[in-house]
Amino acid sequence: MDKKEILLINGGGPLRGEVIISGAKNSALPILAACVLGTEEIILDGVPDLKDVEIMIEVLRHLGSKVEYIGDESLRIDSSGINTCETPFELMDKMRASFVVMGPLLSRFKEAHTKAPGGCNIGARPIDLHLKGFEALGAEALVNDEAISITTKGELIGNEIYLDFPSVGATQNIMMAATLAKGETIIENAAKEPEIVDLASFLSKMGAKIKGAGTSTIVVDGVEKLTGTRHTIIPDRIEAASYMLAAVMTKGDVTIKNVIGSHIRPVIAKLIEMGASVEEIEEEDIIKVSANQKLKPTNIQTLPYPGFPTDAQAQFMALMTVCDGESKIQETVFENRFMHVEQLNKMGAAIATSGNRATIVGVDKLHGADVKATDLRAGAALVMAGLTASGQTKISDIYHIDRGYSKLVEKFTKLGGDIKRVTID
Ligand code: UD1
Repeated sequence: MDKKEILLINGGGPLRGEVIISGAKNSALPILAACVLGTEEIILDGVPDLKDVEIMIEVLRHLGSKVEYIGDESLRIDSSGINTCETPFELMDKMRASFVVMGPLLSRFKEAHTKAPGGCNIGARPIDLHLKGFEALGAEALVNDEAISITTKGELIGNEIYLDFPSVGATQNIMMAATLAKGETIIENAAKEPEIVDLASFLSKMGAKIKGAGTSTIVVDGVEKLTGTRHTIIPDRIEAASYMLAAVMTKGDVTIKNVIGSHIRPVIAKLIEMGASVEEIEEEDIIKVSANQKLKPTNIQTLPYPGFPTDAQAQFMALMTVCDGESKIQETVFENRFMHVEQLNKMGAAIATSGNRATIVGVDKLHGADVKATDLRAGAALVMAGLTASGQTKISDIYHIDRGYSKLVEKFTKLGGDIKRVTID
């Protein structure tokens, strides 16, 4: 049988100390994909050490880019020698975000493909908005059970594109496709996430002409070519939020470094409303967070940025399980993003769901249990719950957590958490 890794956590006292937040996964992935657009050397700093980043590097290498580490968190990328426009479906399947390489490929080479030799029902993935955008620029999209092929006979031509939903990935893909198109592209109802702004600022450094990133209207004026540059990835707002929540859930006191407060306004506002102490030292990118009592319950509704982030929903739910009363969550961004409920309930939580709504009745204490990380953020929620619970928690399927939390065990250990990675048969 394969050896598997699990996390063993003994719940204990408050987390205390300092934690340094890594570069944002959700910025690093599209920015790595954007490197496909450039014909000169690019250096990226602040690249987080994550499984998802490894997969994106694998995608780039498969296409023919040279990618090498020149420091712990710095990469040198040279995409001048790209020799295929086909990404194996296996890499798309491992990580949905690999699809953001399609826009850059289409823009530079006029074609982008992915194929699943065995047939994997590729068409079922929610990529309709990406495809609609590519088609508006004049590309043709062919989608069946074995392949997705996006091609254009002539040049891509700028156009006005209205997104039915402000999808982060579709906004990125269309923005990148438009960089080398002819004329002006206007994306209406675009996503406004900080990661969109980071991608736009990276593309602009490469020579792209982009206005309005961070608002709901993004205007891209096509240019002839994109060049090399050097760029530092913004801090990961979701990783920061996760450590802030773990700090208050354990009634601890933690200084979060390399965090941009304006990227996590809803998280800070909710924590203050619930009775936590949050002190921002903006000029130093530091937030100090603490709590010395049970927090008050609250209600949240996930929304596209600048609303409450869906990527912090599971972690907030973990915190709510030990609040003083009844909290409610409504998940409006993703369907079926409550898989952590069953796992948290195994630890003594009292959560009931109905459709996309959850009601969480605070309990006195959670207890350790054998649980499973059902996705990345669910995994983080279970780590928080384990650190707070009485007794021992074993978390399996932790590859989900490795996708998005750099050096999680080291970071929590430094804060005083009793957490270990163990290999089992
Ligand atoms: C990105 C983030 C992810 C985050 C999400 C929402 C990355 C790598 N991932 O994912 O962590 O949870 O934003 O903040 O940045 N949709 C469609 N059709 C499309 C595209 C999306 O229906 O063509 C739907 C999705 O099914 C989902 C919603 O739109 O219900 C949001 O998806 P989207 O904003 O695209 O998220 P991602 O870019 O996949």
